[in-house]
Amino acid sequence: MDSLIVLKNGRVLDPAAGRDEIADLWIEDGRIIVPDSRPIAEQNCIDVSGFWVVPGLIDMHVHLREPGEEYKETIATGTAAAAAGGFTAVACMPNTKPVNDGSAVTRLIKEKSTSASAHVYPVGAISKNSDGVELAEYGEMKAHGVAAVSDDGLPVMSAQLMRRALEYAHSHGLPVITHAEDAALSKNGCMHEGVVSTRLGLPGIPAAAEAVMVCRDIALAALTGAHLHIAHVSTAASIAHLRQAKREGVPVSAETAPHYFTLTDEAVADYDTNAKMNPPLRSEADRLEIRRALSDGTLDVIATDHAPHSVLEKECEFELAANGIIGLESAVSLGLALVRDKVINETRLIELMSVNPARILGVPGGSLAAGKQADVTVIDPHHHFILTEDTLVSKSANSPFLHQPLTGRAVLTICAGRITHMLLQSMKG
Ligand code: DOR
Ligand code: ZN
Repeated sequence: MDSLIVLKNGRVLDPAAGRDEIADLWIEDGRIIVPDSRPIAEQNCIDVSGFWVVPGLIDMHVHLREPGEEYKETIATGTAAAAAGGFTAVACMPNTKPVNDGSAVTRLIKEKSTSASAHVYPVGAISKNSDGVELAEYGEMKAHGVAAVSDDGLPVMSAQLMRRALEYAHSHGLPVITHAEDAALSKNGCMHEGVVSTRLGLPGIPAAAEAVMVCRDIALAALTGAHLHIAHVSTAASIAHLRQAKREGVPVSAETAPHYFTLTDEAVADYDTNAKMNPPLRSEADRLEIRRALSDGTLDVIATDHAPHSVLEKECEFELAANGIIGLESAVSLGLALVRDKVINETRLIELMSVNPARILGVPGGSLAAGKQADVTVIDPHHHFILTEDTLVSKSANSPFLHQPLTGRAVLTICAGRITHMLLQSMKG
């Protein structure tokens, strides 16, 4: 089989190698290779001039909903949406039905992923059934391929259980991903607590519901020396704790999601359930602080928290609607807006969306070096498009970013040398 692919004349951006230059990238037999002098047939070439050639994007926080809620998303449709969004790998959260708290579900996900459009790294549960009482079996899950543990969707309310989770995960070389929320403070809240919630008459979730748990978990990471990763950071107060912890050398990393640096609680103003997620959209001051933290290194990762829900769970009263929005197909465009706004540069964006998630999860990727598996994304930073219910690849359409002009998109995604998404019109030499 003739498996050579030559990406011609792209802007090759490989932060891990300090590389940013116009060059060709050669791929053969699923690996990146050093270009050589052999003659290349026209059909092996793809002209990517004007576009960026970057290490395959990695989304370390998605919900694929399989097993149990296949009407919202499946491993096949979720990874196809990932490929369409420029991602070559995803880490999927364990809040499936049943919860991924043991080898049976981990194995099922790994098996179904062999034919998927992106690498899938399952995240195992911290506690059995994620009910925060008894630790799950980390050794068994790690043996079957989990890359981290998390009870995402729910907080671990017992500090003692969290301490044990950090110790146990550390002994297996697994990071613990915390969903930082004090359930007693967030109680029945359904949006950020502030002037907008007061105006709308909706019960609020104070920023402190996140920050106090960020603070607690940082203290436990310092106590245990275990790697803590903070999911979907939404508030300035959390950032302040993170900044301090990093200064002190606590082994902590953290992510935010595009909606937190793009939108505020004003997006809820007409009771739009596509602006409802947990943690909620926050104030403008929070949004600005998250942008600063992405630029100064306090935040390490942009992850989407892709959370598909059907119209059944979303087309209802705001207080009853499910939390979460899909994110895989809009993330590149929203990330590029940070570059256009000069909050971060191109290299930093690729660190946030590829290099750092690979490092934190300890998985392949984040590099375009010769010899590496060919996970490659080609981005057209000027591509204009509009996402609609009909054009989305994801099975669900719960996004506040539909029906509006977006700029910048993945036009080619290559996963392990295989083209998983392509919008380019022509193949030429
Ligand atoms: O908005 C959210 N949706 N936040 C979570 O923590 C869970 C997620 C989901 O599973 O839908
Ligand atoms: Zn989540």
